[in-house]
Amino acid sequence: MSCTVTIKTAQGEIAVRAEKGSKLLPLLIQQGIYADAPCGGNGTCGRCLVRVSGEVSPMTERERHLLGSREGRLACICEAMGDCTVEVDPKAEKMAVQVDSYTCKEFELTPRKGVGAAIDIGTTTVAVYIYDLSSGELTDVFSEVNRQRIFGADVVSRIEYSVKNGHTALSNTVISQINSMLGGRRPDRVTVAGNTVMEHLLAGLDPSGMARVPFTTRSLFGGSFTPSEGLLEAGEVYLLPAVSAFVGGDMTGAVVAAGLDEDGPARMLIDIGTNGEIALRSEGRLLCCATAAGPAFEGCGISCGMGGLPGAVRSIRLGKNGLELSVIGNTRPVGICGSGLIDALAVMLELGAMDETGRLDEDCEGVFEENGELCFRISEDITLTQGDIRAVQTAKAAICGGMLTLIKRAGLEPCDISTLYIAGGFGSGIDPENAGKIGLYPSELSKKTVVLGNAAGRGAAAALLNDGARERCEAVAATAEYIELSSDPDFGDYFIDAMLF
Ligand code: FES
Repeated sequence: MSCTVTIKTAQGEIAVRAEKGSKLLPLLIQQGIYADAPCGGNGTCGRCLVRVSGEVSPMTERERHLLGSREGRLACICEAMGDCTVEVDPKAEKMAVQVDSYTCKEFELTPRKGVGAAIDIGTTTVAVYIYDLSSGELTDVFSEVNRQRIFGADVVSRIEYSVKNGHTALSNTVISQINSMLGGRRPDRVTVAGNTVMEHLLAGLDPSGMARVPFTTRSLFGGSFTPSEGLLEAGEVYLLPAVSAFVGGDMTGAVVAAGLDEDGPARMLIDIGTNGEIALRSEGRLLCCATAAGPAFEGCGISCGMGGLPGAVRSIRLGKNGLELSVIGNTRPVGICGSGLIDALAVMLELGAMDETGRLDEDCEGVFEENGELCFRISEDITLTQGDIRAVQTAKAAICGGMLTLIKRAGLEPCDISTLYIAGGFGSGIDPENAGKIGLYPSELSKKTVVLGNAAGRGAAAALLNDGARERCEAVAATAEYIELSSDPDFGDYFIDAMLF
């Protein structure tokens, strides 16, 4: 038995026929409508909020729990039981994400004719920078949430999706997203920085080999890779070379953008995303590793978590009258993003609401019990649960443990590092002191941090505008020493030590 589901979007209405009992999320995906779905439709994140009317399935207990006080339904749980109407939040459909911009002043220009595009495909965000190749002028910047989020928030869930269902839907999603962001332009030259999985999917290659050991790749891209004709609506396409399955072209670009491929005192670079990538330059060597930080710092898997979007608490200070929140867009707080989480944990330590093991103290002001779990109140609507704290604790221990492992492999101590570059969208907003306090990195480095912003995008722009930068990316990929943390004898101990606050 079928029914009609009318989908309302900012562009108008679409009526689709569906079997009764069909879940709403797959119907939206089939129509190319992108609800926020970081858990990949597994009914665990509570983010695929839609408004519905008409004949739909009754609300389940689990859905009620995930919705909390919000009105609406969850598209991955709610089913069409007859004719009904579904409305997606237009902001979720096409969320613009703030990204940094780079001008040619940062790079010596190798002038050419035409238009170029430097593209950064992050697991969470896609950014497209359009340049005039003759002057190096940045003429446009576009950024959106990566539409592959409907297949899961992190790289691992997207590889798993490919293993189970093939990679075609993922590849088509990213290719059509970039073509739509190019908006009919046909750039003469394109450079792309992405992690190895994202570059596989853009190139139409199956990333399933990266699902388990020995983590095989179809290509490490760079100059030796010739993308198939028609990959993008563009002329020449260059994918920045990767070092390994988990240290991708995004890191190669970031290393070049930070100048870590050049000699000098010992320096480190961390790019904190769902996969934390770390590089260390010392005495002519470039060591790197990747650590499964998980998506906590991107707000996923955190009960009140969200990305760095309007309404997100981005910083918290302890004022005379309690917690002082700064909210993106100066609106009412609706969630908390990665930089806010770091501040929240630092403040909880300072207040004594949480001990060094991460356990909440029920006797401390602001701590209360809900559904059998201790929580800490940030604002009227935003709380952090004990489970949220554990998720952040694991993420920060993975990053700090990876850093300490690289430092040891280079024969150094944390105090020998002269500069710590922090890359990634989330890195732009963090308070370096608080990040050191909670142990995101060794505390000796708190006063040595330099925030780079979107360094992968900057690397892609460098490779677009300057031929020497492209050669540098190739050299980085060819000479970097990759350290596999899962088989490293020290990583486990460092990770456990770094679990403490
Ligand atoms: S709960 Fe529906 S996508 Fe996560």
